[in-house]
Amino acid sequence: MTICPSQKARQHRKDRPSNGLHAMLETLNPQPADKILTLIQQFKDDPRSDKIDLGVGVYKDATGLTPVMRAVKAAEKRLWETETTKTYTGLAGEPAYNAAMVELILGPGMGGRAASVATPGGTGAIRQALELIRMAAPGAKVWLSDPTWPNHPSIIRYLGMSMASYRYFDAVTGGVDFAGLMADLAGVRAGDAVLLHGCCHNPTGANLDAVQWAAVADLLAAKGAIPFVDLAYQGFGDGLESDAAPTRMLAARFPEMLIAASCSKNFGIYRERTGVLIALGDETRRGVTQGNLAFLNRQNFSFPPDHGARLVTMIWEDAGLRADWMAELEEVRLNMLHLRQALADALRRATNSDRFDFVARHRGMFSRLGLSEAQVERLRKDHGIYMVSDSRINIAGLNAATVPVLATAVAGVI
Ligand code: LMR
Repeated sequence: MTICPSQKARQHRKDRPSNGLHAMLETLNPQPADKILTLIQQFKDDPRSDKIDLGVGVYKDATGLTPVMRAVKAAEKRLWETETTKTYTGLAGEPAYNAAMVELILGPGMGGRAASVATPGGTGAIRQALELIRMAAPGAKVWLSDPTWPNHPSIIRYLGMSMASYRYFDAVTGGVDFAGLMADLAGVRAGDAVLLHGCCHNPTGANLDAVQWAAVADLLAAKGAIPFVDLAYQGFGDGLESDAAPTRMLAARFPEMLIAASCSKNFGIYRERTGVLIALGDETRRGVTQGNLAFLNRQNFSFPPDHGARLVTMIWEDAGLRADWMAELEEVRLNMLHLRQALADALRRATNSDRFDFVARHRGMFSRLGLSEAQVERLRKDHGIYMVSDSRINIAGLNAATVPVLATAVAGVI
């Protein structure tokens, strides 16, 4: 009989001789490993020199480097020269950063309806958004796409909130199971929050088109649901404006909406933990909502990280830096598109089929290849190719040399 780690921990506690002192830490059970983060360590520990990392969603250039973007470097230099204090910012972060993010995401003229706070990365924004939902509507259910980023259900469970899932991915076509999605979302109740990936769906890479987005908006509006958009990859799909279009459409239609956004990927400042939570509502309620967002920051970490937010603000407010950032982001996006097409072509040749053509139609960093866990495991063991167990690959982990290697290996395991 195998004993699971939590049973072992309980057994250990029972066997422990009592010394009369109260033990707290000994009551803890081991936590399940995060499947994306586990891959990072497994990859590091693999001694093979030709191993390929397609795991965590981090952009890499053709040499395998995650570069600091030019505009970020320039802003950092300027900041170093001009910054005179490191004293606290506001609880909500710098107003200029929040304004910049509202404009980047929603376009000009939305400030009046937008309460916003800087957060530690996109995850911080998701967490604060969920806590806001729990505070405002304790019974509300949060609807998640199936599949979704594993941290979504994990945080919801941790917060003790209720959730439901809606079908999203059609494994046969590699596209969106739109009929399934609409059928499941028909079960949404008034006041529920529906989490939607604004662009570049993680983990599948399959995205709704404009007509489908409009149909989802119609359905949610009819149900009285609140859209909750996770926007972590703006600029990685079809461009900064196009990627924001569904979010802007929802913002124009819904009286209330939540947006959790990240600058980790599009500014390449992963470790700076730079995110924002925007709560759109009636202008007359903006002050109260803003106060609640600031309250949540205070409860969880007081002041949000400032360095990344300040860089983003400097880049956004300086025409030269902004143009250079946009140009480099576009290079990044086109590089990923190019890799997508190259991989789809290579898979076509290697498998002699069109089974993987969807890779070229997907957008963003990720594509779900539709392999079994056993096939993913064989790719790791036999070929040193690392991807998430659900066969999500990070397209940016590839380069011209490794595209054919992956295609041949995939053809070998299917
Ligand atoms: C990913 O999905 O790989 C990224 O968003 C990184 C993360 O935190 O999981």
